[in-house]
Amino acid sequence: MDLSAFPYLQGNYAPIDEERDFDESQLRVEGEIPKKLLGAFMRDGANVAYQPNHYVYPLDGDGMVHGVYFKDGHVEYKNRWVQTSHLMTERKFDHTIYGSVGKLLEVPQEVIDAGGEPNPIRNTANTNVIYHGEKLLALWEGGFPHLLNNDLSTVGLYDYDGALKPGDALTAHPKICPITGDLVSCSQRWDSPNYWVRVFDAKGRHKQVMEVELPRKGIIHDLQITANYVVIFYAPTYHSVEKAMKGEDPFVWEPELGTKIIAIPRDGSGENIVFETESFFSWHFCNGFESGGKIVLDYVWINSIPFTQSQGTGVEKQPRRMYRMTLDMVTRQVTNEQFSDVFCEFSRIDERLMGKDYRYGFAACSNREWGDAHGYNCTGSFDFQTGETVLWEYGEKANAGEPVHVPNPDSDKEEDGWLMCFVDNPGEGPFLSILSAGNVTDGPVAKVHIPGRVPNGFHANWMQNLTL
Ligand SMILES: [Fe+2]
Repeated sequence: MDLSAFPYLQGNYAPIDEERDFDESQLRVEGEIPKKLLGAFMRDGANVAYQPNHYVYPLDGDGMVHGVYFKDGHVEYKNRWVQTSHLMTERKFDHTIYGSVGKLLEVPQEVIDAGGEPNPIRNTANTNVIYHGEKLLALWEGGFPHLLNNDLSTVGLYDYDGALKPGDALTAHPKICPITGDLVSCSQRWDSPNYWVRVFDAKGRHKQVMEVELPRKGIIHDLQITANYVVIFYAPTYHSVEKAMKGEDPFVWEPELGTKIIAIPRDGSGENIVFETESFFSWHFCNGFESGGKIVLDYVWINSIPFTQSQGTGVEKQPRRMYRMTLDMVTRQVTNEQFSDVFCEFSRIDERLMGKDYRYGFAACSNREWGDAHGYNCTGSFDFQTGETVLWEYGEKANAGEPVHVPNPDSDKEEDGWLMCFVDNPGEGPFLSILSAGNVTDGPVAKVHIPGRVPNGFHANWMQNLTL
């Protein structure tokens, strides 16, 4: 693979080579930062430290977290690599050692003999960063989470006091139940096709595990909670370690099998309900809820897995759209309709309404011809009450990240909160955008300009009350 032309390592996808600390005197604030914000906006992403041998977007690349801290209207910024054992081993040898999930390499014996990380599968810690049970965790769905300190320094791998066993891979997309404060998560294993729903209480203690038997492995990236169910999409795809070790395309797509939707009772009682529909793939739910004997799921639909093209050219060309799916619990019928014709990804909501009926979804969107990279140049707001989608465009060539809804602590209304995302707009530079959630088309109420590049990344969250 010619990485010099690989689209997800060019432009604002290219890595940076510095860990930085910017205080308020170095950050330029345009507009006004809401004074009641107390906490931190953090975003994880891929930032290769050494030139890779092979690269699969969005699974490869050493994790780096960027954080903007808010207190009394003041801001600070930091970025740090997650110090994984794979990255620390490569630092020690000062060159690339490990392969890619798309092309695994055997770890040289001299590396193992020197005490280096022996697992050929790199835990990148690059996908998401969450704050739950007063623990800050960087997540990657192929392994254990990494525990971080508030200043983004790395503590190390975290197994939830032994709840996770060697080989357990914890999802990067748990959901926090707004009623109980539980973290509803799941794990898969490299050596089993099965799926384990795992629930951690509000203090981060492992309290429940439910095994779901599956006939074959699956790439099950996200999960959705409703009042009574955990819902997953079981698409006809999986990753083959054997093929990856042989250098063959490890991402298997079998569209003739269709996609199944599995509803797993959250209390562990009763049978799982399986719905069948034609093949599709999805990275992300927006939200889901129960209403009148039905489960409603809003999510970003993709016609197939993106990796099939990545192996050859690196280019993803699949359309992505917001869809609304309805599952009839009695007739088992599935209806699946496109909600909006806007190209979008990274869907989010006001998480106080996670699993409940709600009005607004938000996503990174594009309003321009989509070429050789994702090219999200807008933040979009999807109104599920009126059916309307509206956009704020940061610039034709801008790159806008996942918009995180930050609730207004003085209001329970979705529209009274803010949306935060990193943006890089050529000619304007990198900034953290703060939009009013109810007035997206008015543009940012504030921009925190950062005097150094913030590469495009993956998932972000607002860490309420987290301070330095
Ligand atoms: Fe994701």
